[in-house]
Amino acid sequence: MLGFKPLEYRQTANTIVILDQTQLPEKEMYKHLKTVDDVYEAIKSMKLRGAPLIGIAAAYGIVLTAHSNELESILKAADYLESARPTAVNLSWAIKRMKDVAAKSKNLFEGLLKEAQAIEQEDRSACQYIGQYGSELVKAHAKIMVHCNAGALATAGIGTALGIIYTAESQNKNPVVYACETRPLLQGARLTSWELTKNRIKTYVISDNMAATYMPEMDLAIVGADCIALNGDTANKIGTRGLAIIARYNNVPFYVAAPLSTFDFSIETGADIPIEMRSEDELRKFNNKKIVADRAGIYNPAFDITPADLISGIVTEKGIIERPDRTKIERLKNSGLNKYL
Ligand code: MRU
Repeated sequence: MLGFKPLEYRQTANTIVILDQTQLPEKEMYKHLKTVDDVYEAIKSMKLRGAPLIGIAAAYGIVLTAHSNELESILKAADYLESARPTAVNLSWAIKRMKDVAAKSKNLFEGLLKEAQAIEQEDRSACQYIGQYGSELVKAHAKIMVHCNAGALATAGIGTALGIIYTAESQNKNPVVYACETRPLLQGARLTSWELTKNRIKTYVISDNMAATYMPEMDLAIVGADCIALNGDTANKIGTRGLAIIARYNNVPFYVAAPLSTFDFSIETGADIPIEMRSEDELRKFNNKKIVADRAGIYNPAFDITPADLISGIVTEKGIIERPDRTKIERLKNSGLNKYL
């Protein structure tokens, strides 16, 4: 299924080929990234986006510099890439893995390429497991509300939240998706509708302010995550917190789907998760046309925090943490299942 690849590293040309997500759904355009600057720019401008995918892109971005076999310049490139987006912990997590390997590799290119491939492969496999576990939550013909894009466009595999939907579809459950458009960059309208319909999943796009109207009809809401704190508080695309509140009011189960690479056990609560503030132009203009009065101020945080007590469960590749809290997440942390904890 799927029929597209958001990112591919080509070793012979030492190039990363990405599907430029800013052009979707209008054009399926691929871009060749040859330098660390290209990768930084692509992450920053969200030509590629989604927490797991930016971690994978940064890992291969470091590989692009590795032919020099100069540790210092490789570490400098790693720090530069890490500064591209601050909230998605998968980015710093992947970069730490690459730096650790760089510090102990004799042949830097070989060592770093192997590690980037491992990060990519682990993410692909995590998505499969998340899909399997999460699909148990989906009954036949379930109506499911989603936000932003936590799909194949955001990972190396079938996606997290959307991976659950693809898996449920493969079990002939015929889920119906209500995708919030996700202002201001419209990942729900542009990207989620594109990849779901390409894969023949019944999809309706609603504007963000329709969520409260349609939520009472839903069987489930599932979102992705950019960072999960030790107590289960979760950072995800701006608007997620509002959806969780609406879901709770309507007794609709609200699940987060994320791999272990999205947990940051050193962050105690959501209050300590850094929130990316993006350019005010993303709100001030629409289709390059001014839509806000010049003298009005603008707030544009890219993410918000959903408190753990609004989350019914977190679907990971190791299973589902029902009603997440610090004790359960500490148990996950100490289980030794992930060598990079
Ligand atoms: O700003 P974006 O488009 O990178 O935000 C993406 C999200 O919020 C996703 O829900 C999250 O990264 C999980 S992707 C599997």
